[in-house]
Amino acid sequence: MSRVLVTGAAGFIGSHVVDRLLAAGREVIGVDSFTGYYSRDRKLRNLEPALGSDGFRLIERDLLDLDLRSLLAEVDAVVHLAAEPGVRRSWGGEFDVYLERNVRVTQRLLEAAGEDGDARFVYASSSSVYGPDGGRPVREEATLRPASPYGLTKLAAEELVALYGRERGVPATVLRYFTVYGPRQRPEMALSRFIRAAIGGREVRVFGDGEQVREMTFVADAVGATLAALDAPPGGTYNVGGGVRASVNQLLDCVRRTLGIPVEAVYTPAVEGDVRSTWADSGRAARDLGYRPSVTLEEGISAQAEWALRESLATSIA
Ligand SMILES: NC(=O)c1ccc[n+]([C@@H]2O[C@H](COP(=O)([O-])OP(=O)(O)OC[C@H]3O[C@@H](n4cnc5c(N)ncnc54)[C@H](O)[C@@H]3O)[C@@H](O)[C@H]2O)c1
Repeated sequence: MSRVLVTGAAGFIGSHVVDRLLAAGREVIGVDSFTGYYSRDRKLRNLEPALGSDGFRLIERDLLDLDLRSLLAEVDAVVHLAAEPGVRRSWGGEFDVYLERNVRVTQRLLEAAGEDGDARFVYASSSSVYGPDGGRPVREEATLRPASPYGLTKLAAEELVALYGRERGVPATVLRYFTVYGPRQRPEMALSRFIRAAIGGREVRVFGDGEQVREMTFVADAVGATLAALDAPPGGTYNVGGGVRASVNQLLDCVRRTLGIPVEAVYTPAVEGDVRSTWADSGRAARDLGYRPSVTLEEGISAQAEWALRESLATSIA
């Protein structure tokens, strides 16, 4: 396998996947339309290391407008990360955007992959397909009952991946990431907001009582699972969790300790569709992909805080 197409290449997880593929000696074509979900400058900074590499080509276009068949003819594998993320904004009038970017884009890519023949396809899904976890670690065969429109579009895309696998022979793997964090994390995610507030000396808004618990996955671990999936036999669906869980209040405490800055929390109403707990059983990924998450929460939050400090310096100088 020599050349990989990464969709959503300028995003949080996508830019790390690109960096790791380049470091492994693979050529990468990255596609990103720089949607307005968060700032273009942030995404360009995510891509800085890759843009200096001969093995990387960026195509700045919407996947809905590209000739995907020609593009897929150039690659041996696709890592499909492009999406409209976020539970909160998926309610109400924005749902069309979620359908376009999460469902229609995936269908177009799968059509092209089905015509092209044998490109390996890895789809980035989400723990949001499960809904409430019943207070136990979830396995992949659990009932899927998304608690948000976002989760529903991720599930619809998973079903498309399964359909094109069965009917058109697309050799695909589905990864269900559980809350991913680390350097370049999306700015609206809780940990990002907490760290920025601490650096800026501001209070933070916590949705609900802050006792909702998340399985936290450091981005390097999620990326490791993604590269392993490219090389493993296709057909599987895998949970990718970090093996550590923390409540939102515990995350905030860890930020206070790491940065040594007191941050005041203001509690606001819970977000609809925000489940009380996420908890991954990643045993199948361990068995089939050799997945072993290795970064502790303290190490991961320190790495994200260091990056955020560099970011705030870079953007205040710019
Ligand atoms: N971050 C997490 O905790 C998490 C958890 C579970 C699943 N995921 C999934 O992982 C993937 C990446 O998430 P992320 O946090 O890196 O998000 P992100 O928003 O940082 O990255 C997504 C990128 O896709 C691009 N994009 C969106 N629609 C596009 C289109 N039509 N054409 C071209 N580019 C387009 C955006 O511009 C953005 O740069 C998503 O599929 C998301 O659903 C993320």
